[in-house]
Amino acid sequence: MTISEDVYTAIATPNIALIKYWGKRNDALILPHNSSISMTLGEELNTKTSIMFTDKLKEDVFYIDGVRQDLSNNDIKERFAVIDKIRSIANTDLRVIVVSENSFPASAGLASSASGIASMVFSATNALGLDLDLKSMSIIARQGSGSSCRSLAGGFVKWERGTKRDGTDSYIRQIADANYWPELVDIVTIVSNEKKKILSRAGMRETVATSILYKVRPQYAEAACIELEEAIKKKDFEKLAMLTMRDSNNMHAVMLDTYPPLIYLNSTSLEIINAITDLNEREGGLVAAYTFDAGPNAHIITLENYESKVMPVLKAIQGIIDIKRTKVGKGPRVDKEPVRNFEKIVGDLIE
Ligand code: PMV
Repeated sequence: MTISEDVYTAIATPNIALIKYWGKRNDALILPHNSSISMTLGEELNTKTSIMFTDKLKEDVFYIDGVRQDLSNNDIKERFAVIDKIRSIANTDLRVIVVSENSFPASAGLASSASGIASMVFSATNALGLDLDLKSMSIIARQGSGSSCRSLAGGFVKWERGTKRDGTDSYIRQIADANYWPELVDIVTIVSNEKKKILSRAGMRETVATSILYKVRPQYAEAACIELEEAIKKKDFEKLAMLTMRDSNNMHAVMLDTYPPLIYLNSTSLEIINAITDLNEREGGLVAAYTFDAGPNAHIITLENYESKVMPVLKAIQGIIDIKRTKVGKGPRVDKEPVRNFEKIVGDLIE
């Protein structure tokens, strides 16, 4: 069959949190203990999602990277809940076919859930003709996976923790757009393509329940967000670099302090931390910052001028298997071309 204009396709990119979200005050609504700030990445890493609402199917169908997902699996069900929220706003009970393709390994700590959910929310709201603002879209995305709400805007984005019990004040705001700091570079340093063993959702729940050090983290991170926003506004790279490394260290410290411990970094990650620390010491100032999400892969934030100093340092580290360079991205966009296997999947499902 030929695909009609009922198909909507969107591309979204991951974001890297400079001040991170780790721990919820409300599990069901996904309300964080602290605000977080990220930069949205360019399209070198992206998730493309095509979506079609239909009355010709009895059940929803969801594919990621060519594999049909089990919608009764808790992790998938929680992600897919954004579709139910969008359906209820649009007042429709149409079934849906969602097909996502990642340009990078899923679940290896490169925020594929963020770009995946952001592209799903963006394409689904468009497909149903809903004209939602950033605030409303981010409240929906947040409930699929917290960090995904920050991928709905480009540039530098703050996710406000909010204080209301119903979560209506926990949404994103753009601090600066993608063109604001064009010299800033993220060298995504891949040290493992393996899926993480403990998903963030379960991991952060354990941290909140057991870590002694976590008791001070939300207060620290909240204050760090205010300092980082100021550093971004002043384009103060050294301040940004310091806050970024300290927050990554702090999050991985509370992870290690979780009982049993959560260890997402591997020996290559530690080598990267040491190498960047040594480089900064040699340079007599901060020329690069490392940051790690819930996985061993590093994001090295630097400025174009310093790249020639940073690259040889990374190249000397044996355990690095791939490097992808990206800059601050523009956020999600509609794309005309559906994902490559969409037509076949739809054809097999609908005669
Ligand atoms: O939203 P989740 O469940 O994927 O949590 C991810 C949290 C971190 O990536 C580790 C930090 C962050 O703020 O992105």
